[in-house]
Amino acid sequence: MSPNGTPTNITWHDGNLSRDERESAAGQKGVTIWLTGLSASGKSTIACALEQHLLHQGIIAYRLDGDNIRFGLNKNLGFSPEDRTENIRRIGEVSKLFADAAIVAITSFISPYREDRDSARKVHDAANLPFVEVYVDAPLEVAEQRDPKGLYKKARAGQIKDFTGISAPYEAPANPEIHIRTDQSSVEEAAQQIFDYLSEKGLIVRRQKN
Ligand SMILES: Nc1ncnc2c1ncn2[C@@H]1O[C@H](COP(=O)(O)OP(=O)(O)OP(=O)(O)O)[C@@H](O)[C@H]1O
Ligand SMILES: [Mg+2]
Repeated sequence: MSPNGTPTNITWHDGNLSRDERESAAGQKGVTIWLTGLSASGKSTIACALEQHLLHQGIIAYRLDGDNIRFGLNKNLGFSPEDRTENIRRIGEVSKLFADAAIVAITSFISPYREDRDSARKVHDAANLPFVEVYVDAPLEVAEQRDPKGLYKKARAGQIKDFTGISAPYEAPANPEIHIRTDQSSVEEAAQQIFDYLSEKGLIVRRQKN
């Protein structure tokens, strides 16, 4: 590694297939749908509904879920600001790989820092892959009332430190492609809203397989 963090002695090895060829073979296009919001805002629930909806249309989607990823790839990371940034950096890279492989990547991470989400977007921009930021928005009071995992209760009791919305910040997206108020719409409506956006923008057109 050089002093500025750039790896040394490695050279990018191009493949023999263009993205277009890969997308043609898959019969679909790659895209990352990035869900961000408070704990219990509904990210994982909506991600599951959307994945199912896409699969019913014959489109392969794959979920990268915050909690699940911490069981494996990111099991060495905690919730300090540095670890949260590294958590999101890795998922930005992994979702890009899925999108590059012509899969609809659906990520559901609190991803509380705007700068980290913007970095994930930049990774996609640089690879010429679409990135759709979805603000899964529920007022703190609503999220806290839902509290499906009992985390807010623990955070209020001081048993969890650095808990987003209580003792750690959440920076809401300034310009998300999609804004969903989950206290005002159902899970199905939220999934449909994302699906309609993707359809309108031509991001999930099924292609003729060759
Ligand atoms: N309109 C809605 N959209 C999504 N979830 C809803 C909605 N209304 C109620 N809920 C409920 O809110 C809860 C959301 O929990 P979920 O685990 O999806 O949140 P999350 O954003 O993934 O949280 P975390 O960041 O802790 O993983 C679920 O119990 C879900 O059933
Ligand atoms: Mg979740």
